[in-house]
Amino acid sequence: MFDGRTACLVVVGAQWGDEGKGKLVDVLAEQADLVVRYQGGANAGHTVVIGDTQFILRQIPSGILHPGVTCIVGNGVVLEPETFFGELDQLAQRGISTAGRIWVSDRAHLVLPYHKLLDAASEKSQKLGTTGRGIGPAYEDKYGRRGIRVTDLRRLECARSLLADRVQRANRLLEMMGSPERASFDQHVELLERLAPRILPLAADAGLLVHRAVREGKRVLLEGAQGSLLDVDHGTYPYVTSSNTTAGGAAVGAGIGPTLIQGVLGVVKAYTTRVGNGPLPTEAPSPHGDRLRELGGEFGAVTGRPRRCGWFDATVVRYAARVNGLTGLAVTKLDVLDGFEEIPVCTAYRLDGAACDEMPAEVETLGQVEPKYEVLRGWARPTGGARRLGDLPPEARTYLDRLEELSGVPVRYVSVGTRRDQIIEVKTG
Ligand code: IMP
Repeated sequence: MFDGRTACLVVVGAQWGDEGKGKLVDVLAEQADLVVRYQGGANAGHTVVIGDTQFILRQIPSGILHPGVTCIVGNGVVLEPETFFGELDQLAQRGISTAGRIWVSDRAHLVLPYHKLLDAASEKSQKLGTTGRGIGPAYEDKYGRRGIRVTDLRRLECARSLLADRVQRANRLLEMMGSPERASFDQHVELLERLAPRILPLAADAGLLVHRAVREGKRVLLEGAQGSLLDVDHGTYPYVTSSNTTAGGAAVGAGIGPTLIQGVLGVVKAYTTRVGNGPLPTEAPSPHGDRLRELGGEFGAVTGRPRRCGWFDATVVRYAARVNGLTGLAVTKLDVLDGFEEIPVCTAYRLDGAACDEMPAEVETLGQVEPKYEVLRGWARPTGGARRLGDLPPEARTYLDRLEELSGVPVRYVSVGTRRDQIIEVKTG
């Protein structure tokens, strides 16, 4: 997708997350200079497999596994410092040096232990099925203008007094919510005092770094987390995450103007999954749903929860194409469908007997739609060894052509396995 015209590219999930963005970013990062995470936090679990080693990155951009790539945690991310440094340490243990090539926006907000306590307490009443990483409460604090940012660590005295207020507030809320848990001020102070000397040398005006890189003609990847249907504005509200996962959020969360972005790659699985609560119109009953879960290893990278599995939903992807302005599609996990005799694809919805072509605003309505299926022929031959479209069984090519037609977005990549080399780049004109 990088070419003479595209130097700044966004990669977004075009379903409910877990589409395989980590692998795509890893593959594309080979040609990139800079990779930026622009939203979300440790709720993400981007999986990259190199040789026999699997890396699950929650906070650090997936480009870090390429020695020549600089990585940035943008201002739109909520940073859980202990997870971040845990990941850096793990990378170091595996011989991957990150020195001098990772930066954290000084405007990024911190996720602190009291956010996790609030997340857990609020799940008791509003059962959204969150990842429990404190994401919602951290963004609430950000928009409520009481967040603690990386830059606050530059003046620890100030940070202490902010903490005193925030911990007290959190404890009042916990009490109101009937939670027996309480946050400890001392524990929070100790955490910030311990981590500030590690964070501050990495803190920078990240937007400036990204802006300069684009201006200098460098290749920049903006790595989205979660998926479009989990976007706080465009997703299946309230069963969403608390950030703008869609491409519009990339400019804001990376700290650059939208005019610098030239392409948006939407990543979709060849089928559909969702973890957590909320409607999933094409959810497949057993045995198909169980078979997809088993073959696709569909268990949450962060929480280990089994993912709900179903068929490809073109209404979802057409919607994602519109709200993201997708310029290309990457279809992942095609190999998981190997061996299915027939593969249903949802082409549209019906509601009370009438056509329903657009995504309804209310989850209750989405829960009532009836998917209209077209059944395509499956293929028996394994696809994991394919490196060109021509290597795929004809039925698999027909399947991809149909996804492209129904989504209205050209397929640019097809992933046929977890390894780096198991990818097909679709050459264009
Ligand atoms: P939160 O982001 O932890 O607040 O969770 C809100 C919703 O988003 C829940 O349904 C989660 O399961 C879902 N979610 C959050 N992060 C991810 C992800 O990286 N992949 C898939 N689902 C996610």
